[in-house]
Amino acid sequence: MIIRNAEPRDIPAILSIYNHAVRETTAAWTSREETLDDRLTWYEARMSQGLPVLVAAGAQEEILGFASFGAFRAKEGYRLTAEHTLYVDPTVQRQGIGRKLLLRLMDIAHEHDIHVLVGVVDGDNNASIKLHEGLGFEKTGHLPQVGTKFGRWLDLVFLTKVLKPMEPPKP
Ligand SMILES: CC(C)(COP(=O)(O)OP(=O)(O)OC[C@H]1O[C@@H](n2cnc3c(N)ncnc32)[C@H](O)[C@@H]1OP(=O)(O)O)[C@@H](O)C(=O)NCCC(=O)NCCS
Repeated sequence: MIIRNAEPRDIPAILSIYNHAVRETTAAWTSREETLDDRLTWYEARMSQGLPVLVAAGAQEEILGFASFGAFRAKEGYRLTAEHTLYVDPTVQRQGIGRKLLLRLMDIAHEHDIHVLVGVVDGDNNASIKLHEGLGFEKTGHLPQVGTKFGRWLDLVFLTKVLKPMEPPKP
């Protein structure tokens, strides 16, 4: 398995992994599956901003997972904080792929001078919370019952990690 930059040819596989999570899980708080155009637009926007989109690819070049980060919030005061996203194909979960994707993403965020990475997850997503905590993220926010899907209330959990201590930039 290798981690590499995503290419346009990977978008159908990324779409399929994401849409599976939309249908079956509360990882994405929506029931609207994306179209190929939606994902291509997302990918092109990330590329045009110089942001990473990574895939984990197996021996047959099959896509096993993907990860990316982008702006946490739009106002420029948040520019040194990024929110990441991470999905692994359900048939190959718990084999270390998520950890490898997130570790690579953290390295790239560091290279981009990102100060804080934020993961925003469903409070019941034990797999994601444990994965993040194992890599030094801390649960720094918990908003009870702010979402709903499948007829349930969902809690939102913020997982953050300061990547490198630094002085605040000059105004
Ligand atoms: C969360 C997710 C990315 C984890 O990816 P993964 O490849 O299955 O995770 P890994 O195999 O790298 O696991 C790394 C660590 O995370 C924790 N973990 C992963 N899956 C777990 C599970 N089902 N239960 C408990 N802990 C789990 C463990 O600490 C694990 O380390 P260990 O296997 O040495 O005990 C994956 O479950 C997924 O894609 N879920 C759906 C989408 C999602 O929730 N994305 C996160 C939103 S940011």
